[in-house]
Amino acid sequence: MRTILVTGGAGFIGSNFVRMVLEEHPDIRVVNLDKLTYAGNLENLEGYRDHPNHIFVKGDICDGALVESLISTYKIDAVINFAAESHVDRSLEEPGIFIETNVKGTLTLLKIALEKKLERFVQISTDEVYGSLGPEGKFTEATPLSPNSPYSASKASADMLVQAFGHSWGLRYNITRCSNNYGPYQFPEKMIPLMIHNALKDKPLPVYGDGMHIRDWLYVYDHCTAVWKVLTEAQPGRVYNIGGNNEKHNLDVVRLILKALGKPESLITFVKDRPGHDRRYAIDSSRIMAELNWRPSVSFEEGLSRTIRWYLEHSEWLNHVVSGQYQDYYKRMYSNR
Ligand code: NAD
Ligand code: DAU
Repeated sequence: MRTILVTGGAGFIGSNFVRMVLEEHPDIRVVNLDKLTYAGNLENLEGYRDHPNHIFVKGDICDGALVESLISTYKIDAVINFAAESHVDRSLEEPGIFIETNVKGTLTLLKIALEKKLERFVQISTDEVYGSLGPEGKFTEATPLSPNSPYSASKASADMLVQAFGHSWGLRYNITRCSNNYGPYQFPEKMIPLMIHNALKDKPLPVYGDGMHIRDWLYVYDHCTAVWKVLTEAQPGRVYNIGGNNEKHNLDVVRLILKALGKPESLITFVKDRPGHDRRYAIDSSRIMAELNWRPSVSFEEGLSRTIRWYLEHSEWLNHVVSGQYQDYYKRMYSNR
């Protein structure tokens, strides 16, 4: 494999993946296709934009002609599809764009990947396609898909299309389903960076419902190493769960952030719950560990402390992304909670 097409490579996980590939795999050329929505940001690629193995293209995964020309021009061997509308709360506000990008955009990529007989198509999915867990058990790759939000429904639809292309026409694919990521360059609409940002500004920290919802946190670099292993070592047609074995109540994570920043717990504000809020996610990663020998390398304590340090050292990045549209979003989303 020589040249890969990474979609959504100016977003949070995509940009971390692009940086990791450019740093650690000098024989690989990365074509990075990103629409630069509110969540895509070229500052996420700072220091790597002009890297000799990196070609950035601003564009939409729904634009078949563009995707086709990139694949031909750059002789792409594989696609890794990170591009998506990724925020559950936004999907509850405006589901249409989630169908456009997450379903129709994926379909566009699949048709071209098949036609061009690519070596591999890796679909970056999510544990949210499995729905919500009770107090016991973990999601395995055999757990039936049961998505609860428009976001997770769009991701589950995309997964099924990917599998259908493999089953019907032999597309060489893999699907990864990862738990909640955190780390540098995450847009502060997601819980961890939002809480860090608010705490730094001494603003209320809006905890949904009773704060006892559980997420299974994974440091973003570890997600990237897992995707790389899937791309380069997995048999086609395999689905892999990826998780850090780090289940935490939201409230506990918020308290850890406040403690690390030396801010008072009185900043915590309980607000109206997210409609249909999934109670608990927990991932069984034993398949990827056994088959591909993948392991997470960063503990939650270490990862959270690195993340907080990163946001403290990148106040300019944070100030840029929370200016303008973000303020409107925040008012719209939080004023009636
Ligand atoms: P993000 O919102 O930070 O980034 C998404 C990127 O996709 C942005 O750069 C955006 O500009 C780009 N994009 C959106 N629509 C596009 C389009 N039509 N064409 C081209 N580019 C487009 O998201 P993220 O958190 O980095 O998530 C990346 C992927 O990983 C998503 O597919 C998401 O479902 C999945 N995922 C995320 C998490 C998580 O915790 N964040 C966990 C598991 C899986
Ligand atoms: O599990 C993987 C998924 O994780 C990814 O597929 C999604 O793209 C990603 O956004 C994330 O979804 P969540 O909904 O779990 O993440 P979020 O950061 O939005 O919320 C984490 C938890 O924190 C969730 O229980 C809701 C809660 N929360 C969130 C926000 C933004 C709050 O209590 N207050 C908030 O302001």
